[in-house]
Amino acid sequence: MRAVLVREFGPTDEVEVGETEAPLKLGTEVVVDVHAAGMNPIDFKTVIGKGAAKAVEPLLPWIPGGDVAGVVAEAPYEAHDLQPGDAVFGIVNHWRTRGSYAEQAVVPSLALALKPESLSFEQAAAVPCAALTAWDAVVRVAKARAGQRILIHAGAGGVGHFAVQFAKYFGAQVATTVSTRNVDFARSLGADEVIDYTQSRFEDALQKVDVVIDLVGNVADDTGTRSLDVLKHGGLYLNVPTGSWPEYAAAARERGLRSSSVKVESDGSNLGIIGRLIDAGDVHVEVQHIYPLDQVHDAFAELQGGHVRGKLVLKIR
Ligand SMILES: NC(=O)c1ccc[n+]([C@@H]2O[C@H](COP(=O)([O-])OP(=O)(O)OC[C@H]3O[C@@H](n4cnc5c(N)ncnc54)[C@H](OP(=O)(O)O)[C@@H]3O)[C@@H](O)[C@H]2O)c1
Repeated sequence: MRAVLVREFGPTDEVEVGETEAPLKLGTEVVVDVHAAGMNPIDFKTVIGKGAAKAVEPLLPWIPGGDVAGVVAEAPYEAHDLQPGDAVFGIVNHWRTRGSYAEQAVVPSLALALKPESLSFEQAAAVPCAALTAWDAVVRVAKARAGQRILIHAGAGGVGHFAVQFAKYFGAQVATTVSTRNVDFARSLGADEVIDYTQSRFEDALQKVDVVIDLVGNVADDTGTRSLDVLKHGGLYLNVPTGSWPEYAAAARERGLRSSSVKVESDGSNLGIIGRLIDAGDVHVEVQHIYPLDQVHDAFAELQGGHVRGKLVLKIR
């Protein structure tokens, strides 16, 4: 099968597109003919030797990519819910089996859901990792609800645009930070307060927030540390790019705040709920750009730039 191959960790323009053996399924994994693969920052972080590079080193030549949308080629067993021909989306366990930037992938059956009927394969591939991360932060951990004020950093990005919509769906008052070109986009997602971080500091505009969902961390302008200034006593700081600020928990504790990291879980049943919200028209999926597999280097360059609106997707077939 054709796939993006990482023979050794290094610059993303050194990955190859070439032939490799199809993955072997184990137990209740599903073989999926991949139509599209969504891209996430962890993909390039791992390619350049950070992210999960240590974990995937034994799999070199490794194939990046968690997000997948495609068609079931081989079911776990004869009477399983998922059967050949079903259109599905979900997250490949790319730390065990190699990833979705390939013509075939194997995916744990519980990490898959039926593809929303209203979405193309390319749109569906944009959903799993970003939307499930947003769901875990906004719904499972923060328990978004009416009466709660939530600040979401990077509300125009992959995780952020879902997080804003989920928080609004569950009735919270939502503030978000974006750059100038994304102010109208963030409003279209339902954000009540949109702060252009290139023009003003969010801590000057906001105070007494119940929850901060930090999708930026301390890599840019000490966004994480400054976030503690806007929380009310006992408020909750959630750190998603965990590597960017390992000391966040001690800093939050010193200020009388609660804090946690959030790590995405490949949960097909939550993904099914998200798919139904999408089909009902309650959640919009933003895809900035679809690249053919051969243009993976351009796609990686755009992803690494850090200013994608919504998602980037590779079209595999
Ligand atoms: N822990 C986990 O399991 C997990 C899961 C998913 C993601 N993550 C991590 O979470 C982070 C976000 O992921 P993602 O997929 O949403 O990334 P992404 O889509 O690449 O984020 C891009 C967005 O970030 C915005 N941005 C950049 N600098 C900003 C700043 N200083 N303030 C506010 N917004 C800013 C950009 O908006 P503008 O163009 O308007 O600046 C752009 O829309 C990444 O570090 C990723 O690795 C962790």
